[in-house]
Amino acid sequence: MNQSSVPRDATRRSPLRVAATLIAASVVAAGAAVAFAADADAASTLGASAAQSGRYFGTAIAAYKLSDSVYTTVANREFNMVTAENEMKQDATEPNQNQFNFTSGDQIATWATSNGKRLRGHTLAWYAQQPGWMQNMSGTALRSAMVNHITQVATHYKGKIYAWDVVNEAFADGGSGARRDSNLQRTGNDWIEVAFRTARAADPAAKLCYNDYNTDGQNAKSNAVYAMVQDFKSRGVPIDCVGFQSHFNSNSPVPSDYQANLQRFANLGIDVQITELDIEGSGSAQATNYSNVVKACLAVSRCAGITVWGVRDTDSWRASATPLLFDGNGNIKAAYTSTLAALNGVPPTDPPTSPPTSGPTTPPPTGGACSASVTLNQWNGGFTAAVRVTAGSAALNGWAVTVTLPSGATVTNTWNAVAGGSSGAVRFANAGYNAGVPAGGSTEFGFQGTGTGPSATPSCAAS
Ligand code: G3I
Repeated sequence: MNQSSVPRDATRRSPLRVAATLIAASVVAAGAAVAFAADADAASTLGASAAQSGRYFGTAIAAYKLSDSVYTTVANREFNMVTAENEMKQDATEPNQNQFNFTSGDQIATWATSNGKRLRGHTLAWYAQQPGWMQNMSGTALRSAMVNHITQVATHYKGKIYAWDVVNEAFADGGSGARRDSNLQRTGNDWIEVAFRTARAADPAAKLCYNDYNTDGQNAKSNAVYAMVQDFKSRGVPIDCVGFQSHFNSNSPVPSDYQANLQRFANLGIDVQITELDIEGSGSAQATNYSNVVKACLAVSRCAGITVWGVRDTDSWRASATPLLFDGNGNIKAAYTSTLAALNGVPPTDPPTSPPTSGPTTPPPTGGACSASVTLNQWNGGFTAAVRVTAGSAALNGWAVTVTLPSGATVTNTWNAVAGGSSGAVRFANAGYNAGVPAGGSTEFGFQGTGTGPSATPSCAAS
């Protein structure tokens, strides 16, 4: 199998850096406690620096804090991905059976969209934070309720979600490698794949993730998740990513095989995402841990991005352990500085097992509406294709890429775009949330298929 690389090139840095340099002044003016590294070529916010390698840097957001201007100023300045901390969970969105409430979830979605952030959905099916009526359910009634819940919620947010944590925390802790007992698990072992198929049907453009904790290193629990993903891929159950929550403290430190564990999942042909990062502690020890986590992600080409579980220490579910990047006043901590420095570090060395079949060859962003390049991951009988869309000298407000597939090839699922067909010349149009691409900037979508993947350079047009 060819493990392909996320394209990285210097041309994508420039516009982000210009914006980031302007923003840097306001960070310093805000009384930052720790100085920036004096790297004239570095981006100056977490989101912009992650974007240099095609990644995102996100945070969990709580709707009730959106009226706090320190909170929104820091969140808006630093992050380019947002996860609703509680507002899209089952108890929030379906408090009474079949009566949906999207008020607080929509507040976050609207804030994200209006500030140009992408959105991770969290979470569609979980043993915890179920509304009372669901906690009391079992068997086929619960299975139907789960399917209805996923369909309604994913449909409501269709077109706005970059990735959904479709199923959260379904495996037991300890050495058993077993599924976690829950009312959902007792509906039948196939509940997870049913959840993923249901989510795909409701929002075909969203990436679908399995998300868990204590899976950050190789252990019985992560091995069990790995086996599930392997099984799903072999049977065509739609899964695009695995989320590693990465809640670390002295009892649960950053594992020494963190990067290797991310890489082995990526080698299954999925993205990996760090979804709820927080690291208890302070000072240089915490800073080093953060930097090591960032470096691990940067070294794995399919590590799509990092989300921290809150903005300031005081916003954390573990506030007293000061696990985040900003103090209670919104000032940057040493951990912030080390995180930013790691993101701005020399381009990571990806050790692909073999060269990509085609690309990455991101064309220069000069002239023309847009261009597109494909990075192909081909195996016997199937493939995934990551397509990078790069704007020319003008910003895009919508785009469409036409990819010509060889005879016999069929697209089976698509993420971050909407496919207009499944064979021959297939037109992929932007999803609702990634229509806008700044001049010289880029965005990525992907698709999976059977047969032989595309080899020709796709065409790209503004729409
Ligand atoms: O909304 C009520 C509020 O009305 C009340 O005054 C207050 C009193 O304590 O409680 C509020 O609800 C709390 C809610 O957070 C909002 O702050 C709940 O009691 C509390 O249980 C809930 O905790 C959340 C926790 O998930 C629940 O499982 C945390 O905020 C949230 O950070 C945490 O997130 C989880 C991820 O979803 C999955 N991975 C682990 C992670 C950390 O536990």
